[in-house]
Amino acid sequence: MRILKFCVLFDKLGVRMKIAVIGLGYIGLPTAIMFAEAGYEVIGFDVKKDVVDRINSGKAHIVEPGIEEKLNKVVKEERLKATTKVEKLRGANAFIICVQTPLEGNKPNLIYLENAIRSVAEVIDRGALVIIESTVPPGTTIKMAKLLESLTGFREGVDFYMAHAPERVMPGRIFYELVYNSRVIGGVSEKATELAVKLYKSFVKGEIYATDATTAEMIKLMENTYRDVNIALANEFALLAHQYGVNIFEAIRIANTHPRVNIHFPGIGVGGHCLPKDPYLLLSNAKKEFGLIRLARKINESMPKFVATLLFEALEEGGVEEREAVVTVLGLAYKGGTDDIRNSPALTFVKLIRDRVLEVRTYDPYVGGTHKSLEDAIVEADAVVIATDHPEFKELNWEEIGRLMRHKILIDGRGIVSNPPKGFIFKGVGRGDV
Ligand SMILES: NC(=O)c1ccc[n+]([C@@H]2O[C@H](COP(=O)([O-])OP(=O)(O)OC[C@H]3O[C@@H](n4cnc5c(N)ncnc54)[C@H](O)[C@@H]3O)[C@@H](O)[C@H]2O)c1
Repeated sequence: MRILKFCVLFDKLGVRMKIAVIGLGYIGLPTAIMFAEAGYEVIGFDVKKDVVDRINSGKAHIVEPGIEEKLNKVVKEERLKATTKVEKLRGANAFIICVQTPLEGNKPNLIYLENAIRSVAEVIDRGALVIIESTVPPGTTIKMAKLLESLTGFREGVDFYMAHAPERVMPGRIFYELVYNSRVIGGVSEKATELAVKLYKSFVKGEIYATDATTAEMIKLMENTYRDVNIALANEFALLAHQYGVNIFEAIRIANTHPRVNIHFPGIGVGGHCLPKDPYLLLSNAKKEFGLIRLARKINESMPKFVATLLFEALEEGGVEEREAVVTVLGLAYKGGTDDIRNSPALTFVKLIRDRVLEVRTYDPYVGGTHKSLEDAIVEADAVVIATDHPEFKELNWEEIGRLMRHKILIDGRGIVSNPPKGFIFKGVGRGDV
């Protein structure tokens, strides 16, 4: 077995350092490209053959501004190769694990991470660095280090080094944020922290904060939980606004002029891979129950149902029989400007209403499998529900749209229609009785 000496870009013999990126999804693929652009030899590993084949042909399987061009370049220059064969990772100086860490029944499923560690165990050489970028419950990185120790007989801090370097990027801005965001890096051992910081410094221009592995895990989860709880507060304010006939968007904008207040904005719900999941990851290894974070989740999870209530109220007001209603949902992605439908509240909303109405049509210019054109989706519809804040939906001409519809009912689940269009029955989250 070779003993690897770890240093950035080149090892002692002047050989270009090899980085293995495990899991080539929304996080792993841009990360692999970034390391390749920084001058490393990068080998990307994924269990999905179609993903690997696509990447090797220079084509990305995810939508992210700039990705096609960058991927094409690093693949052509042979700086990034993808594989489904663990064997090909042999000789890597660093393993960067970016596999999914989903929930199952609100409990973390770490099987993908454990499998990734098993793959590392098959090929790791002494001296290598193993970094978990995936978001994990506090205590997981230490557990994974123990798993790797038991599989290899190596010792963390002596034979290999393990650190957690959580990813803070936002889809749609990944390539900018990978470079300019500040980062938190926590090693199982101090040496692991030191090596991981050194590695990321090769392309990160933001601050790098060094800490221990469990603190790094908690920081990442606290950040997303903070956002989720604050959105839940905004959603509760919105629900209250319906009790008082207040336009919550106007109220929040004015409240936020207070120098120490920054209320988030309410909506149809919270989606994406991270926010609906991370609060549960944060709670999952705790020895006792905690209330606030769980309640915030419940409030956010209830918002699609609230929007469904607004829709059914509006149909009744408009004299449209539920069973006869054709409803068009604008947007399936969880967030404007992306194709990401993971945990999207728009999908939950569609599921909630589809058995109660005659037809649900969906239109999302970013997501395949929906109606091809807006016109096609709204013609003869009884109601339109805005479920995603895509920039395209902010510019719509409601007068023209209204002419194509059978009934003019508009439900704004995202607070993007500032003035209720004339002639429409209009309801929106937090719009009170306006
Ligand atoms: N997507 C985001 O915006 C975001 C932001 C911050 C952090 N994260 C965290 O990053 C991690 C990855 O998220 P993602 O969105 O990139 O997930 P993803 O589902 O897009 O990608 C994961 C990839 O890993 C592959 N994979 C699964 N098990 C594997 C294994 N054993 N070996 C090799 N490949 C394997 C899958 O086939 C998939 O292609 C998660 O923990 C997530 O919470 C994601």
